Amino acid sequence: MVKVITYGTYDLFHEGHYRLLQRAKALGDYLIVGVTTENFDKARGKLGVIDSLMTRIENVKKTGFADEIIIEESVGQKFSDIKKYNIDIFTVGSDWVGKFDYLKDYCKVVYLERTKNISSTMLREKKRHIQSIGIIGTGRIANRFIKEARSVSGVNTQSVYNPHPESVKRFAEQWDIDPYSDLENFYKDIDVVYIASPHETHYQYIKSSLEHDKHVLCEKPMTLKRSEAEEVFELAKEKNLILMEGIKTAYCPGFHKLLGVAHSGKIGNVRYIESCFTKLEDPNKRELVDQKFGGSFLELGSYVMLPILKIFGESYTDLKFDSVKSENGLDIFTRASFKFPTGLATATCGLGVKSEGRLLIAGTKGYILVSAPWWKTTYFEVHYEDPNEVEKYSETFLGDGLRYEINDFLMQLTERGRNDFKLTRSESISIAGAMEQFINEFRGNN
Ligand code: CTP
Repeated sequence: MVKVITYGTYDLFHEGHYRLLQRAKALGDYLIVGVTTENFDKARGKLGVIDSLMTRIENVKKTGFADEIIIEESVGQKFSDIKKYNIDIFTVGSDWVGKFDYLKDYCKVVYLERTKNISSTMLREKKRHIQSIGIIGTGRIANRFIKEARSVSGVNTQSVYNPHPESVKRFAEQWDIDPYSDLENFYKDIDVVYIASPHETHYQYIKSSLEHDKHVLCEKPMTLKRSEAEEVFELAKEKNLILMEGIKTAYCPGFHKLLGVAHSGKIGNVRYIESCFTKLEDPNKRELVDQKFGGSFLELGSYVMLPILKIFGESYTDLKFDSVKSENGLDIFTRASFKFPTGLATATCGLGVKSEGRLLIAGTKGYILVSAPWWKTTYFEVHYEDPNEVEKYSETFLGDGLRYEINDFLMQLTERGRNDFKLTRSESISIAGAMEQFINEFRGNN
């Protein structure tokens, strides 16, 4: 019996897939089809797949060509599958010519002519209207956003707004997009607004964007008051628009894996979390000069609170802040101490004090340790009482990581909310509440 194997994502199943499977089956007597998992596709940079794994498997099954369907979840699996299933022929479409020649030592490799003028990418783009994005703000993060958005299909960064004509012109020329210093005109040709302006301007820009019927992705901290966060989410709901806070860690695959392990019972019940993020900043930069909205907690607090709220939930019974201040009165280091009914947590962040930026999640059976930069999670360890017993986990993190956030935002636009568990409205509202408490106490102490 001649055994054949082939692999693919089979998203939005199309004629090219059908013809490939038909010819693959005809190469032998028994056809095994490997269908990629969502995580594997994400890890290899294929973001934006629309159909779920189950749907994609169902569609392959319906063709009747597959004698067996397996899932492909990691690099290197093809080699072991060939051995495991005793494969005679490995086949894929001609778009892969040469890429799998390394398998020739183990079986025959056949590249089948690809069907012309059809692909999942084409269908995805047709199905999804390309969302044109306008950016408010021209700072560092706006630059990073444009670069990352270019790696996500289905979006196009079209324009940028900044009230100062000179700076917006400079920024727009650099990226070859349209500059606006008039907000009304800026809103005209876009679907989505990405807000990357100074923190204190977010609330007004979110409101104004929603009022102009634009979906909004807003940099953290989304707002600095609980009531403002509640109000803008309510407005988005009324207008049937998507509003999402951009805390990029929340959307990273590695961070998700970490939350999965933390919630799995592996380390027992979580009783303590310590998260720290420090980034030494130039004392002349806005973050350390702006008396009203600068400082460490407003800048980095969203990151360090994220794992705490994701694991313990939002019902803390106590939250206390302690800060180290610079001569101009801004916090160069802040510690937020949380009490929850089932445990304790400390979030520390600093722009003027350097510390080890790690995340520690301690439970009744063991602990999870993630070294800096844990906010771009790629690797973490689980430790137990026996110091020799260490489990290691890793996950890909592509580019600057913003692409995951942009992709999830896009998914929410097209599928209306299936990804909103990654950073829920009430989590964003809680973060805004903590920011508000910090500002009130901090100003009170000044
Ligand atoms: N395939 C083909 N003809 C096409 C499209 C795909 O023969 N027009 C083949 C691929 O070469 C591969 C299999 O179908 O062997 C599954 O490919 P997959 O990557 O799932 O499909 P694409 O349409 O190429 O997807 P994408 O656009 O997302 O890369």
